Amino acid sequence: MSEPSRSYSLAKEKIRVLLLEGIHESAAEQFFNAGYSDVECLPAALPQDELADRIRDVHFLGIRSRSRLTDAVLAKAEKLTGIGCFCIGTDQVDLKTARHQGIPVFNAPYANTRSVAELVLAELVMLMRGIPAKNAAAHRGEWLKSAAGAYEVRGKTLGIVGYGHIGSQLGVLAEGLGLRVLYYDIDRKLPLGNAEPVNSLAELLDRADLVSLHVPDTDLTLDLIGQAEISQMRPGSHLINASRGRVVSIPALCEALESGHIAGAAIDVFPAEPASGNDEFVSELRQFDNVLLTPHIGGSTFEAQQNIALDVATKMILYSDNGSTTGAVNFPTVNLPDHATARRIMHIHRNEPGVLQAINQVFSTAGINIASQYLQTLPDVGYVVMDVETDDAGTLLRGLNEIPATIRTRFLY
Ligand code: NAI
Repeated sequence: MSEPSRSYSLAKEKIRVLLLEGIHESAAEQFFNAGYSDVECLPAALPQDELADRIRDVHFLGIRSRSRLTDAVLAKAEKLTGIGCFCIGTDQVDLKTARHQGIPVFNAPYANTRSVAELVLAELVMLMRGIPAKNAAAHRGEWLKSAAGAYEVRGKTLGIVGYGHIGSQLGVLAEGLGLRVLYYDIDRKLPLGNAEPVNSLAELLDRADLVSLHVPDTDLTLDLIGQAEISQMRPGSHLINASRGRVVSIPALCEALESGHIAGAAIDVFPAEPASGNDEFVSELRQFDNVLLTPHIGGSTFEAQQNIALDVATKMILYSDNGSTTGAVNFPTVNLPDHATARRIMHIHRNEPGVLQAINQVFSTAGINIASQYLQTLPDVGYVVMDVETDDAGTLLRGLNEIPATIRTRFLY
């Protein structure tokens, strides 16, 4: 929180955008279309020292999961105004430090939800036909030509646990195949199509032929499907987990696969996953032919990458052009209207008593009327945006920068 105050007001062509790690080209296109011309794209992540060096001159930085924006790197980011994580997770950025430096961080939490729903839809059919085991056997030269244990999905019951962005899309798609859809969610969710909410996880497990998990990773969902829950599932039913690895107890699932209580499973996420493609995938599930194992690729498609690029670039451009922080994961959220006629001043500050009064004092001393004012705060940082009718932004910015709690100011015209 001891960063010096900074302020700037730049024409778009002077705003420098750096996109790392081969971010899909539609992100750069989006910046160009919005009038930004200084956009550089690099195919890979930069080594830490080079990143720390390059970040000095950049106003907007786009990364994926391999770049590490640590305290030390962010300390060099004198001009950095916004960060885009062109992915779902934001663990690679020190979010608190970024906030304390007045830098919002954007991501795309829902841009790949359709990809996950489609994969699960395919897995429903594969599991009901016993394809994972038949496929594994054929690779070994065995010919399991049999209708035993093979069913159509039509008329079967799919139980969806977690009826959010992915779960609800899956429900709609699954109804298209003739499945009956039940769902359980801790929040009250309106059903789409003919989906039927149930009152408890136990009821869902008891009624479903296929159970698919779409919950977040929280304390409540740790081992959500353990031994007790698996024993509540119908004999011969199937389990799909493309949510988070800690949601299913793998030992309990292995036990149920060995006993035949669970007929098959499709698992995309694991409690421990290899850090890179060079590391071995270690899991007790490898021994089961009737388990479809995929390397956490539920959301990994061309279209998802494109959606992520558009989503994050749009949020960054909106912040740059208009000051809105919609979708920022570490910042007070302010949704702003256009400022077609007025000038706009943004002030990011440590959230201390008296700051708003000090800001208003600067305006009243300058004799400038505030047309509109928007304020949002988090416990440590506040963000206030003011629309004013003046061409003398310099005096105002100087006055605002003298307020001790100021982190940074920005002026849009
Ligand atoms: P979402 O936030 O839209 O939906 C999650 C739903 O789960 C919410 O409706 C919430 O109320 C519900 N929920 C939370 N705790 C619950 C509990 N204890 N019992 C029942 N319901 C509960 O999330 P979204 O986008 O649908 O993602 C779902 C999961 O899929 C997340 O864990 C996400 O990380 C994962 N995911 C996996 C991908 C992959 O590559 N396999 C790609 C994208 C997301």
